[in-house]
Amino acid sequence: MVPSRRLRRLRSPRFGWLLPRRLGWLLAALLVIGSASPSLADNRDRAKRIFDRLTGVPPTEAQLVTMVSRMGGLASTPSYNQLLDAADVALDDPAFYNVSLVNFVTPWTNVERTVYADLNDYTATVVGMIRDGVPFDRVLTADLVYVAAPGVVPTAYEHTSNEHYRQIQGLGVDLSNPTQLIGVPQSSLPGAVLATEETAGVITTRAAAEAFFSAGTNRRMWRFTSLNYLCRDLEAMKDTSRPADRVRQDVTRSPGGDSEIFHTQCVGCHAGMDGLAGAYASYQWDDDQARMVFSRGQVQPKHLINANVFPGGYVTVDDSWRNNWRVGQNAALGWSDSELGEGFGAKGLGAEVAHSRAFAECQVQKVFEHVCFRPPQDGIDATRIQEIASDFEAGGAYDMRAVFADVAIYCTEGE
Ligand code: HEC
Repeated sequence: MVPSRRLRRLRSPRFGWLLPRRLGWLLAALLVIGSASPSLADNRDRAKRIFDRLTGVPPTEAQLVTMVSRMGGLASTPSYNQLLDAADVALDDPAFYNVSLVNFVTPWTNVERTVYADLNDYTATVVGMIRDGVPFDRVLTADLVYVAAPGVVPTAYEHTSNEHYRQIQGLGVDLSNPTQLIGVPQSSLPGAVLATEETAGVITTRAAAEAFFSAGTNRRMWRFTSLNYLCRDLEAMKDTSRPADRVRQDVTRSPGGDSEIFHTQCVGCHAGMDGLAGAYASYQWDDDQARMVFSRGQVQPKHLINANVFPGGYVTVDDSWRNNWRVGQNAALGWSDSELGEGFGAKGLGAEVAHSRAFAECQVQKVFEHVCFRPPQDGIDATRIQEIASDFEAGGAYDMRAVFADVAIYCTEGE
């Protein structure tokens, strides 16, 4: 058997030696068909793929024709700008917002990181920001929330329920339509508890508060900010070389009677995280009212619980925060010189995160996984990701639509 197989392989066409025999034939056949019409199908196919990657649905014939004509016709080799113009057709399609972006953002808004969750103010705000080209570094700082325009749905925004967004979704309100979904200051919502300086973009939305400020000790808000905006879980940030002076009283210094474990384990996360999560000291999700509450100038009791575990630990006295991870291994995240690395409140911490290099790279990485249907590979995709991240930061534009376009063009190259 073996020798005759070898013989057959040697006789099979061009690529037969690379692949199992039948696959080799199939590939060869496809190559022959493909080479019969070398460029005719190319721009049309590429346009289709770009559209599908971005929106999750196929383009209409009219959209396809527009895209191909923006690419210079069926047979031409499009310039990069022509490809960007073609991608705009997909980025202007309602499905990009109502389906693709909603699915992109929804997992950031809950602890399970599931896409199977209702539309909420967090998701709608990110979708609206991307649609309107709001510089995306404001996602963790802006006094901004997207709501349905007056009269579009029966129930106006409520701090105590998600009904407004359930109606937006249930009635099929078109999130791509700027007369239907509008951005307003969070602080302007009737019944708002936050003043502008106390808002911090999506961090202070109702959905984020419910998911990440409920119960616990508000450290969860940091963990998920890091996961979603720096693409790193705490495990990857662990650095036991950092000072423990901000580690709160509730963290035992001798777990299981062994102080060594504190220094080799607990400090790794808590030295950094506890210093950062101080920014959230005045926020709380109130289960009884089903809303976020805020204690101006006061620390929420949850920041002070279990003080007896280690009375010598850090006592939260205000909403100050300090980024102990600017030094040590996490300096590699590329913290910005334009930020101070310490301050008061969630807005300042949001700026600290959003102006790091890791933030820019993370947004590109997330788009990459969403649009390319695979994680980027080191050594293959890294260079292009770095370039797109640099373009994203350039001039403070932080334009997510441009990231989507660049990534879709990249992933459909030579496919
Ligand atoms: C990999 C990172 C990491 C390490 C290591 C770590 N923690 Fe934590 N810790 C967290 C996070 C994240 C939270 C917040 C969890 C939440 O509320 O969702 C937390 C919360 C806590 C809390 C508050 C629990 C509550 O809700 O009341 C205590 C106490 C605590 N950790 C103690 C320790 C001790 C002691 C050690 C060492 C044995 C340790 N942690 C090691 C990440 C870490």
